[in-house]
Amino acid sequence: MWTRSGHVRHSVHCVRRVFPGATRQIGARNASRTAVVLDIDGVVTRGATAVPGAAEALRRLRQQQIPFVFMTNGGGVTEKKKAEELCSLLGVDGIDADRMLLSHTPFRPLAERFREKRVLLVGSKDTAEVAESYGFDVGNMAVTSSQIVKALPEIYPWPVTHCTLPPVDVNAADAPPIEAVLIFYWPSDWAMELQAVVDDMQVVSDVLAGGRPLGVGTTGTNGTGVQCAELWSSNPDFLWQAGYPVPRFGTGAFVECLQALWKPFGRSPLEVQECGKPYAVQFQAARKLLSQLAQHDDFERIYMIGDNPAADVRGANSAGDPWRSILVCTGVYQGGVGSNDKEDPAWRVEENLPDAVESILRMSG
Ligand code: G3P
Ligand code: MG
Repeated sequence: MWTRSGHVRHSVHCVRRVFPGATRQIGARNASRTAVVLDIDGVVTRGATAVPGAAEALRRLRQQQIPFVFMTNGGGVTEKKKAEELCSLLGVDGIDADRMLLSHTPFRPLAERFREKRVLLVGSKDTAEVAESYGFDVGNMAVTSSQIVKALPEIYPWPVTHCTLPPVDVNAADAPPIEAVLIFYWPSDWAMELQAVVDDMQVVSDVLAGGRPLGVGTTGTNGTGVQCAELWSSNPDFLWQAGYPVPRFGTGAFVECLQALWKPFGRSPLEVQECGKPYAVQFQAARKLLSQLAQHDDFERIYMIGDNPAADVRGANSAGDPWRSILVCTGVYQGGVGSNDKEDPAWRVEENLPDAVESILRMSG
């Protein structure tokens, strides 16, 4: 049992259903001025399980020709793979990559910006493949902590499960400096990643680093307390719902740990460039996806359906018109429909996705 109303966990459907008009886009002639953006975990799925009624709710949106896209702070896989995973979890067809905005999707343009520069990629699952799909030179200019530690094991003198990419000696005399650290996704070995990222950020003495200091970016100078590489993080979620009854730590918690390890030396907090919900960049990108799908941008209402007040509701509320936040009770928020989040009150609170969709259809009808 996992929701307030007593919905029971159920396993993945084995019957695949095809949405009516799955491949058809809505033409400008009969364009809906209502659109929906769906959070995934805690709304459509919970961990590896579909939320009851989710597939039917999406079918209702299709039927009514309401354009919808997914905006999740999850990632670690390509947009295409995430769309396929979602189809398989829900037992449906017709959700393509063009409906999928992941936490790291806004990193795509960074591949061009850092094309000739060395960057450190952080993240488990398929992070290397994702970065490659965005155009990063993975394994060479875009390296992982595992590649660094393979070449320089003294950096992290503990047991490591290495990736398959070749070792890279980032301290070699002719090695380019690490200009940026890009946190794509939750890393699997926090201890090693925390060590490597702090090493990249700080200017240590030549003696300590055994040659060229690790990660001295072109903007850095030798000295203490200087952050010498850009730090980008794609997911500020401190907690997320997942399958366990109590929310789990997210990538935002990893960044907090990083700040904690950086602080004791009397330094100013690390400057982090962030994307992911609740940041405006994500909501702008979601609107762009919707416009492409609907073939217009003349929306009267864009409903954001989410379970996390600090991410989904805050982001939609800050985006202003035509966004409206709808909070559901199947994930992080457990306050029930009679209540609302204190810090980030939603425009409307609904029990679950099916209820949220029905109320949207009523409002737009
Ligand atoms: O790692 C995923 C998690 O932080 C949140 O996912 O779909 O609720 O934005 P979602
Ligand atoms: Mg969520």
